[in-house]
Amino acid sequence: MELVVFGVVTLAASSIVWSTLRFGISPMPSSGRVRDTLIDLLPADQQGVLHELGAGWGTLAFAIARRCPQARVIAHEGSIVPFLFCALRKAISRPPNLELRFGNFLQADLRGAAGVITYLWTGGMEQLAPKFSAELSPGAFVLTHTFAWRGREPNSVVNVGDLYRTPIYRYVIK
Ligand SMILES: C[S@@+](CC[C@H](N)C(=O)[O-])C[C@H]1O[C@@H](n2cnc3c(N)ncnc32)[C@H](O)[C@@H]1O
Repeated sequence: MELVVFGVVTLAASSIVWSTLRFGISPMPSSGRVRDTLIDLLPADQQGVLHELGAGWGTLAFAIARRCPQARVIAHEGSIVPFLFCALRKAISRPPNLELRFGNFLQADLRGAAGVITYLWTGGMEQLAPKFSAELSPGAFVLTHTFAWRGREPNSVVNVGDLYRTPIYRYVIK
């Protein structure tokens, strides 16, 4: 039994390390204060499709789905262990407007989205920038915390009341 637990833990840890090397970022969750401040920036009557790119353990995805019951939230995650954790959370809490997708979000189709929410790192935002420009329609928004969409002027920046004054950037496509 102990050997089985040890094997599962080792496999899960190795998988997380492997996907961290692959994607350049670990499934580090947003803090509670950042999550709550970001969620408040979303209108409760938001409609349309919202993509969360890099859902990790679901910290933002589940909160977004709860906050915006009229929106369809699609949460993308490419690392299998956090994805399975999200799937388990979904099976337990059954949010009706949350869809989980496993895979590389660079291959996702963002056309027609009302908005994108993400928490990545500088390189991830650089990979996404041309995709945002090519696929998002005028009026769609990008909400990202900590890491900006470089080369774009944000429409607003809100600083979280935490130790780092974490910035949350909001961009609206023109
Ligand atoms: C910093 S975590 C953010 C987790 C969550 N959004 C939150 O705020 O708590 C970034 C996540 O993005 C995922 N990720 C990074 N690049 C990806 C890609 N190209 N395709 C799918 N997932 C990716 C990582 O596996 C990681 O779980």
